[in-house]
Amino acid sequence: MTPAAATILVVDDEHLIRWSLEQQLRREGFTVLLAETGGEAIQKAQAENPDLILLDIRLPDADGLEILERLRAGDAEALVIMVTAHGGVESAVRAMKLGAHDYIIKPFDVEELKLTVRKALETKALRRDVARFQAELGHGSSLGDIVGDSRVIRDLKLLIQRIAQSDATTVLLEGESGTGKDLVARVIHFQSARARAPFLAVNCAALPDHLLESELFGHEKGAFTDAKALKKGLFEQADGGTVYLDEIGDMKLDLQAKLLRLIEEKSFRRVGGVRDLQVDVRIIAATNRDLTKAMEAGEFRKDLYYRLKVFPIHLDPLRERPEDILPLVRHFLHRFSGEMRREIRDLHPEAQACLTKYTWPGNVRELRNVLERAMILASGEILHVEHLPPEIGAAQVERPLPPATPAHAAGMTLPAEGVSLEEVERDLVRQALEATEGNQVRAARLLGISRDALRNRMKKFGLGEVGQKGG
Ligand SMILES: Nc1ncnc2c1ncn2[C@@H]1O[C@H](COP(=O)(O)OP(=O)(O)OP(=O)(O)O)[C@@H](O)[C@H]1O
Ligand SMILES: [Mg+2]
Repeated sequence: MTPAAATILVVDDEHLIRWSLEQQLRREGFTVLLAETGGEAIQKAQAENPDLILLDIRLPDADGLEILERLRAGDAEALVIMVTAHGGVESAVRAMKLGAHDYIIKPFDVEELKLTVRKALETKALRRDVARFQAELGHGSSLGDIVGDSRVIRDLKLLIQRIAQSDATTVLLEGESGTGKDLVARVIHFQSARARAPFLAVNCAALPDHLLESELFGHEKGAFTDAKALKKGLFEQADGGTVYLDEIGDMKLDLQAKLLRLIEEKSFRRVGGVRDLQVDVRIIAATNRDLTKAMEAGEFRKDLYYRLKVFPIHLDPLRERPEDILPLVRHFLHRFSGEMRREIRDLHPEAQACLTKYTWPGNVRELRNVLERAMILASGEILHVEHLPPEIGAAQVERPLPPATPAHAAGMTLPAEGVSLEEVERDLVRQALEATEGNQVRAARLLGISRDALRNRMKKFGLGEVGQKGG
C-alpha cells in the first residue's frame, strides 16, 4: 500500500486536536478516522483496521498505555505513535517498550508530525518488503529454481517469462500432485512487475465455504456472528500483486461467480458489504483434477473455466520426462548438502539406475523427500541403493544381473549321487556375500530373494557378520 492510501486513526479527547489533525492529515491524502475515548479507539481499530494510530497517552476512560497494550495483544497490525504532553517523556519511553513505534510531544509542530507519520508508514511498507524478500529467498522464485533438461521444462521457462512480462493475465496451472505448480506460480509472480507487491496463496480445499469467502473477499464488521472486526480479504491485501488459488476445482459455484466478477470487472464486495471495491490482482489458479470433468458434472462454471484457461500451463508428470530426474537429483543433493552441512558428492550408478527407472507417482515432491531421507541415512560421500526406500530399490530388480553373478541355477544339473540342498544354498549365499563385499541388498538381489530372506539364511548358516556392510 502506498502511504497516500493509508488509513490513520486519531485518538484524542480534545476536540480541537482531533479536528486539526484531521484537517492536516486529510490534506496529505490520508483517510482519517477519529476516536475520543479508549473504548472507541479499540472498537474502531478492530472495525476499520487502520495502518497507523495516533494515540494520546492521557484519555478520559483509560490510560493510553493500557490501550496500547490491548491493541498490541489483538491482531491489529497498525503502528502506534503515542502523543504525549510536555514532560511526559518517561511514559513515552514506557510506551516504546510496550511496542509503540514512535512518540511525539505536545504541542507539536505540524510539519514534524507529518514527517513522523510518513516515516512510520514507510517503515511499515519496508517491513512488508523485507518479509516478502525473505519469503522469496527461502522458497524458489527465480527461473533458475526450476530444474530440468527436458524440452518440456525449457518450453515451460519460456512460457513463464512471457506470462511474467504480460501484466495481468490469469493463469491456470494443471498437473498431478508434486509436479511444481506452487513453484511455477511463485516464479511467475516474482519475475513479474508485481514482484514488490504481495504473493498470497490460499488452498480452496482447506477451508469451509463461508470461511473461504471471507478469507478471499474479507468481511465487514458484524457480517456474521464471528465477524467482530472488519477484515480485509486476500484480494485486498494482495492489491498490485498475485493471488494463488490452489485446488480451484474445490471452490463452490457461488464463490466461482464472485471470482469471475473479480477477474472481469476487478471489483468485488466484502461479505456483508454494500460498497463495490476495486483491486488489481493477477489470479493464478491451480488444480490436480480435470476441470473439464467437473464442468461436465456441473460443478465448475464454464465461463470461469474459459476465463482461467486463457493461459493454461500443463505440468507433465515426472515419469513422462525421465531426463529431468538426474538433474533434479543433483539439484536436491546439492541443496540438502548445504542445508545439512554434509558433503554427499555423488550417487552410486546402481542407485542412479533405480531412481531413473522408478515411476514417481508423487512426482518431484516424492523425489525430493526420497533424497532427503537418503541423505540422512547415508554416512559416506556416496548414496547407495540401500539408502533408498525398498520400492525404489526394487525398481532395479528386473535389470540384467551384473557379470559377477555366480553360475546360473538353471544351468546346474543334479549329480547322480545327489546333493545336500542346504550345502548348495549355504555356498551360494556365501558366494553372493563375497561377490558383493558383504552388501546385503545387492547380495539378496543376486540371489533373487528379499533382504530379510537373505538375513534369515545368513543366520541359519552362521554366515553372520562376515564383512557385512550397508546394514
Ligand atoms: N522443476 C522443478 N525444479 C525444482 N524443484 C521442483 C521442480 N518441480 C517441483 N519442484 C519441487 O518439488 C516440490 C513439490 O512441488 P510443488 O509444491 O510446487 O508441487 P504442486 O504441483 O503444487 O503439488 P500439489 O498439487 O500436491 O500441491 C517443491 O519442493 C518444489 O520446489
Ligand atoms: Mg501445490
